[in-house]
Amino acid sequence: MSTERSKWSSRSAFVLAAIGSAVGLGNAWRFPGLAAKHGGGAFLLVYLIAMLVMGVPLLMMEIAIGRKMKQGAAGSMRGLNKKLEPIGWAAVANAFVISVYYAAVFAWVLLMVVKSIDFAGMTGDTVAASQLWLTTIKTTGAVSGIGVLPLSLLAAFLVAWGSIYYCIRNGAASVSKVVKYTVFIPVVLLLVMAVNGLRMPGAMDGVAKFFIPDFSVLGNAAIWVDAVGQVFFSLSIMMAVMFAYGSFLERDSNIAVDGLIIAFSDMAISVLAGVVMFSTMGGVGMLDKISTSGIATAFIVYPQAIVTLTNIGWVNVIFGMVFYLCLATLAVDSAFSLVEGVSTSISDKFKLDHKKTTLNISIIMAAMGLIFLTGAGLAWLDIVDNFTNQFNMIIIGILECVAIGWFFKTERVLDEINLNSQKWKMPGWWFNTSVRFAAPVLLVFLLVWNVISLIKAGGVYGAADGYPLWANIVGGWLITILVFASGYIVKLIAAARARKGLVEDESSWS
Ligand code: PFF
Repeated sequence: MSTERSKWSSRSAFVLAAIGSAVGLGNAWRFPGLAAKHGGGAFLLVYLIAMLVMGVPLLMMEIAIGRKMKQGAAGSMRGLNKKLEPIGWAAVANAFVISVYYAAVFAWVLLMVVKSIDFAGMTGDTVAASQLWLTTIKTTGAVSGIGVLPLSLLAAFLVAWGSIYYCIRNGAASVSKVVKYTVFIPVVLLLVMAVNGLRMPGAMDGVAKFFIPDFSVLGNAAIWVDAVGQVFFSLSIMMAVMFAYGSFLERDSNIAVDGLIIAFSDMAISVLAGVVMFSTMGGVGMLDKISTSGIATAFIVYPQAIVTLTNIGWVNVIFGMVFYLCLATLAVDSAFSLVEGVSTSISDKFKLDHKKTTLNISIIMAAMGLIFLTGAGLAWLDIVDNFTNQFNMIIIGILECVAIGWFFKTERVLDEINLNSQKWKMPGWWFNTSVRFAAPVLLVFLLVWNVISLIKAGGVYGAADGYPLWANIVGGWLITILVFASGYIVKLIAAARARKGLVEDESSWS
């Protein structure tokens, strides 16, 4: 039987937990990596536009619908209209996929906590520092180069999953205390690294690259899809999480203001991480050797920042350890929000015990994630991460906007958002225009443009991808198909369960 729905203990508990979910490796690892991949300033510009046009309104929309429906993503969409339920499941399935690889990145971070010991002998040696992570994860760089599965990485992975499960075993709403500490300390350390980065000669070239857009790259579809995908990834939207978190909210919460706080803190932390990354890259003369995938950048650049902090090896060691521990704390609450988004939807739907569901799901996700720990892991992670962000999230964004903007009344969602706002209300012109027109039109345009550019560049995934076709099919297209078929698979299971007496929740918006 499902247990009583848990609730946030206070307003700040919700805001902190939502910030905890939003602020994660996406800010410290993915954002600067993508910014580097796209040359800096232009990416930042597109990211900021996408944040305002799509991020802020869609974040508020998901929280409001979750609060109103008291259900995870799938149940919430079903409550709006039964036909919309598969969209919710696509978001759940997308969260599932991301959890699987996110935990692997989390494991890399944990391993770096220990590996920071090596910084002792690397003072000032940025070349050695840049290699540390690559040699630690023993990557072969190729999709079929399984190579070895380093035991240390496996151990880190088990610790990662253990801590994710430990945090949410009693429901995400019970963990807001954790988040209080996990958000602020990393920000302080990033600030220290930013100051350190900025005092290096050459740093200003990096900063200029980060803030001054090179408009010529705006004609490239990839920069736009990457930026929009990153906004969704970073705000934890299009992934079932914010519906679930909204569903634990009390009626009297102020979604308009809380939504702004969540979005702007998230954005500010990403920008801060970008400053650290670009000033350091400028400082160590790496600006012209920017990684093509983006995925490795953070793991290559942060160590260089650390070994240049002071001339005393052990001080750098301690800083490195604390820094990676902080990144781990950022990762854990984002990772458990993903698991929570999935398990809330499944336990709501099938009236399962929430705690057992969470455990089972965590075990399945962890088992599937093993591939990312092997020598081929980096390559697979790159493919899966690209597909989820460049296709799945964009398509889910289109479906959510069309479903809510055109088949439901955005005004009703806006009323729910502004239900308790006094001083500041989410303006109708912003919300309605975004959800009904700007967001879906832009997203469709981007999707089509991206597909055309990829085809033109040659190959299913474009020349820049560089991975074999079969790998793109397995790690990309197949997963995308499964994500969007998930709603229908669930429907079949539900029908079978109904014959055994499962009675579904039929609450609807009104
Ligand atoms: N927003 C998190 C980050 O930026 O690291 C990652 C994430 C968490 C993505 C939850 C999606 C999600 F649903």
